[in-house]
This record gives sequence, structure tokens and C-alpha cells, in this order.
Amino acid sequence: MGDMSHSRYDEILHYLPKLSKRMKEQGYVSDRNFEARKKRKMNEEEEEKKRKMVKNLLPNKQIVLNQSVSGYPKESDFGLRSSFINCRLSDDSSQAVLLKNLYLSCDPYMRHRMSDQVAHPGTIIQSFTPGSVLVGYGVSKVMESTHPRFKEGDFVWGMIGWEEYSLITSPDRLNKISFTDVPLSYYAGILGMPGIAAYVGFHKICYPKERDCVYVSSAAGGVGQLVGQFAKMIGCYVVGSASTKEKVDLLKQKMGFDEAFNYKEENSGSALRKYFPEGIDIYFDNVGGRMLDEVILQMKAHGRIALCGMISQYNIEEPEGVHNLFSLIMKRIEMKGFVETDFDHVYPEYVEFCIKYLQQGKLVYVEDVAQGIENAPAALVGIFYGRNVGKQVVCIANE
Ligand SMILES: NC(=O)c1ccc[n+]([C@@H]2O[C@H](COP(=O)([O-])OP(=O)(O)OC[C@H]3O[C@@H](n4cnc5c(N)ncnc54)[C@H](OP(=O)(O)O)[C@@H]3O)[C@@H](O)[C@H]2O)c1
Repeated sequence: MGDMSHSRYDEILHYLPKLSKRMKEQGYVSDRNFEARKKRKMNEEEEEKKRKMVKNLLPNKQIVLNQSVSGYPKESDFGLRSSFINCRLSDDSSQAVLLKNLYLSCDPYMRHRMSDQVAHPGTIIQSFTPGSVLVGYGVSKVMESTHPRFKEGDFVWGMIGWEEYSLITSPDRLNKISFTDVPLSYYAGILGMPGIAAYVGFHKICYPKERDCVYVSSAAGGVGQLVGQFAKMIGCYVVGSASTKEKVDLLKQKMGFDEAFNYKEENSGSALRKYFPEGIDIYFDNVGGRMLDEVILQMKAHGRIALCGMISQYNIEEPEGVHNLFSLIMKRIEMKGFVETDFDHVYPEYVEFCIKYLQQGKLVYVEDVAQGIENAPAALVGIFYGRNVGKQVVCIANE
């Protein structure tokens, strides 16, 4: 009996510290030291978490739309926001890429997205929400990836945010850049969206043939400069128009256009009659409006018009309208709009063609490169005033 009580006594003595610890943990016993230790440990854990988070946070400058735009866009319609981005992809961010953005492309279609409540279902043209970061075509370097198609160090082009770093959670439509023996900015222009638009618009919509007489409006821009050169490659006679003497000279002296004129100084009807005494076979239309109306009158029978863009109409409230459509019937003219995204399957053929001609020096490409994300709004606004000479891009970082 005495032995049994002794062993129980030992058992209780052995159990007591554990019991007291558990009671302290559950708050039955107050122990100031224990509470202080617990609090300190929690604080340390919290601090460690914060330190890790801050270590992973990168400052990220972004361009936001301040308010919806009506009329011509102004720099004040956009703002520069200082933000942060987590530069570590979490394990649960499956199939995402984190990008360091290098070049932004300033494209006229972005004007539609600045308007209030524009939506063209099935296209990329949906309004930007005021306060949100602009989105557009650009060129980037992959910093981290959980997507099987991309790895750290890859270069890509496609839709990115107008910001220094972007997290793309569905990168399926990003294009991996495999040929890097050209400036990477080319993938925001000649080897990107404007390039493929020029190629398919001319070759797949205009059915060009040798000695066709071709007119290109907005000819010194990203698309126009290429269309004119593609036409020259197959032996067409090519005339372009632009808004300054510098651009007109560039078209004739550097890009091989046969003729070019300043549509702001010369009457377009007279200029077209002068340069196309027998009429126009192909009109590659980048501007629409009154220019399109005038060109229709100057087309030859069985001519082709590719409607690529209508930049002269993007900033006005009421479209000017086209009044000479009856001529299309009498002259059996084919006029067709197109959107380059319908021709993704042509891209590999185009890249091969384009790189070959660039390497041989038979294709000239002129870019207008603005430096720094701070200058992106001015560059974007500038294209609607004809300030760009060549394709307008913004360099926001070097590799
Ligand atoms: N369908 C498609 O898939 C597709 C794809 C890409 C582009 N686009 C369209 O193609 C056109 C050209 O695009 P881009 O990227 O090559 O642009 P861009 O020509 O590089 O830049 C815009 C140019 O348009 C001209 N412009 C501006 N406002 C004008 C106005 N009110 N009237 C006449 N010209 C004006 C200016 O040049 P000037 O010195 O000549 O005035 C300006 O430099 C745009 O209409 C665009 O929307 C269509």
C-alpha cells in the first residue's frame, strides 16, 4: 500500500511541470514572463514575415488613366503612380509569369480604349477603367515563371501593363522571342503587331501584283513605312503621304517610295491626280475620313482598298462619313477591313520573311524611341498629333 502511494506521488511530481505549462498556455495561470515571451516570439515572427515581404517587394512605376478621354487625348489624362509588386511568384500562382517590361508600343487603337464604355466583343477593344493601369503591346524579360512554356531569362512580346513589372496570370497569348539578333524593340513594331498588320493587310487583302499603283496614307508610321516597302519589293509604283517635310523626305530618301507628299500643305485631290495620272490600283488606308472619300474617286476599275485604320476619326465626336461609295459599284472596287489578330497563323511566315530582308539590308525600319516610363503619356498622345517619325515606342528599361 505504502509502495503504491509512493509511485503515485512520483507520477504526480513528474506530471506537474507539464500540467503547469499547459495551464499557462491555456491562460489558466498568469505568468508575466511567459506572456511576455509569447508576445516577443509572435512579434519576431511577424517582423520576419514583413522583412521577407519587403525584401520581395519591388517599386513599380505605372501609367494609369486618370479619366475617360473625349476629343484629343492630353498628357493630363494619364498619371504616374508609384506602387509595389511582389517579385516572388507564390507556389499557388500556377502558370503565371513575372515580367520586367522593356518596351511599350504606342498604338492608335488604344485611343478607343480611353473612351468611356467602349466594348467590341471578341476584340481587345474594351474601355480602360479610370484609375487602372494601361495595357498594351510591349516587350519584356521573364523574371520568374511557373508556366511550362516560359523560363527565367526568356524574352517575350504581347499584352503587358504600362508599368515597370507585370504579373501575367494567363500568359498563353504571350509570344516567346527566339530571334534576338535585332533590337528587342522591333518586337513592339516591325516584328510585332504593326508589322504583321502591314504584311497581311497588303499581301492578303490587296492582292498586289507587279506594276500596281499603290497609295499609302500615314506612310511614315509603324504600319505605313512597311506597306510601302513591301509594295516596292514586288515592283509596284508607291506614293505615300505624311504631315511634315521631314517625313516626306524620309519616305523618298530612306524608304524607297517613288513619291510622297505633305497632305497638310498640298490639296490631297490635286496631289493624287498629279502622282496617279491613270488612277490608283491599291489604297492602303490608315486614316479614313475625307482622305478615303477622295481616294475612292481616284481609284482605277477593279482596284482594292484595305481598311487598316481610321486615325483621322478617332478623336472627333461625329464621324465625317464617306460620301463617294457609289464609285465602288461602278468601278467594281473591293474595299475590305481587316484585323491583324485574325492572321496569327501567318506570323511564323512573316517573321521568317522579315528577318531575311532585315539581315540583307533590303528592309529599312525607323523607330521613334522615347526614354523612360515618365515620358510614356507624352509619346502616346503624340501619335494623335503626328509627332512620331516612324514607329513610336517607349523604352522603360534595358535588359
Ligand atoms: N487593322 C489592324 O489590325 C491594325 C493594326 C495596327 C494599326 N492599325 C491602324 O493603322 C493605322 C496606322 O497605325 P500605326 O501604328 O502605323 O500608327 P502611326 O502611323 O505610327 O502613328 C499615327 C500617325 O497617324 C497620323 N495621324 C494622326 N492623326 C491624324 C489625322 N487626324 N489625320 C491623318 N493622319 C493622322 C500621324 O502621321 P502623319 O504625319 O501622317 O499625320 C501619326 O504619326 C492606324 O489607323 C491604326 O489604328 C490597324
